[in-house]
Amino acid sequence: MKNNALKIVLVSGARPNYMKIAPIVWAIRRLNRRGGAPIQSLLIHTGQHYDPQLFDVFFRELDLPAPDYCLDVGSGSHTHQTARVMERLEPILQQERPDLVVVVGDVNSTVAAALTAAKLQFPLAHVEAGLRSFDRTMPEEINRMVTDLLSDYLFVTEESGKQNLLREGVDPKKIFFVGNVMIDSLQQSRHLWECSTVREELGLTRNVYGVMTLHRPANVDNGERLLKLMQAIAEVASRIPIIFPVHPRTRKQLEAVNRSVPGLQWGRKRVEAKGIYGLEPLGYLDFMALVAGARIVLTDSGGIQEETTFLNVPCLTLRENTERPVTVTHGTNRVIGTSPETIIQETVRVLENPRPALPAPPLWDGNASDRIVSILREKVKGCERSS
Ligand code: UD1
Repeated sequence: MKNNALKIVLVSGARPNYMKIAPIVWAIRRLNRRGGAPIQSLLIHTGQHYDPQLFDVFFRELDLPAPDYCLDVGSGSHTHQTARVMERLEPILQQERPDLVVVVGDVNSTVAAALTAAKLQFPLAHVEAGLRSFDRTMPEEINRMVTDLLSDYLFVTEESGKQNLLREGVDPKKIFFVGNVMIDSLQQSRHLWECSTVREELGLTRNVYGVMTLHRPANVDNGERLLKLMQAIAEVASRIPIIFPVHPRTRKQLEAVNRSVPGLQWGRKRVEAKGIYGLEPLGYLDFMALVAGARIVLTDSGGIQEETTFLNVPCLTLRENTERPVTVTHGTNRVIGTSPETIIQETVRVLENPRPALPAPPLWDGNASDRIVSILREKVKGCERSS
């Protein structure tokens, strides 16, 4: 790469980061192929997620290059994870001296990398800035707020993100409403996930099953709470089979409560009857294929609220709030909390009404990463490098 190249460090840490980093990597590749001032990108994976199902599969399926550096931080308390990323990232940034560090989303690795970059005075970009649940009991809310405070370029996915940042006093010149990079991944890999055979393998046809994911500490870390939630889902699953790819955190807790959930069976097998089908975490392509064909999705994830909005799949969010309000005002999402009665009532409502057909939210058009890369190429070269 030529010396005048803009040198960017991209940081990934956990599963929801990969589909946000990938389209930026693809956009850089496209831009470099077209010629003009090149961009050199280095990928650093912190290792917050390390299981093959939460890491390798995604890198392969999303055509991400092997990371240039792996920090192997692994699991631990939030403080431990954050501190370890900072400790291990610092010498790499000092050695590589990038023009810019790019972080995405809201996981512990995001805030850790943001802090490290800011303390070393490297310019920082946050992709998916400005989202707020206004619930500081969520670890991600703290991560989002701190990361935004430290960022020089804030790329927002929806109008609420811009308004939140302005209210917090962020200089409007730093805010760029570019759309949603997760939707870029979804669109640009559509030809691949549409070829997934997971539905055939599980014996499912479109619209005859639901998909569920659960991993938020508030929902899964307390065994009794989780059991109550699962009992409500069992009721739902007596109406429609529920495919449930299980996050390791949730699996551990389900094993720890050691009491059977009615109708829950484990293993990737053909769905012959109603019930809950617990599977290992799925890769990106199989998961998107399943979601796209689902009659209903129940989730506590942030990203899945957005993917279902784009795919026009009704989504019930099992949380008290969302940091992604456009999925409710402009999409298919309803934030319904975790009361068993409401979960059952809302599911029945969805099943009895046809699937909606709504236009995508503004700028969710598959081109957000191209916008981000052009803005960075235009603006960052003028940025001060730390001495
Ligand atoms: C993290 C993110 C969350 C994101 C989620 C997606 C934070 C605060 N949370 O939550 O925002 O939605 O990823 O998955 O950053 N574990 C494994 N294998 C792994 C990684 C973790 O078994 O590869 C187990 C470990 O026992 C660990 C637990 O899962 O203690 C939780 O992992 P952690 O990285 O702390 O947070 P997540 O719940 O995955």
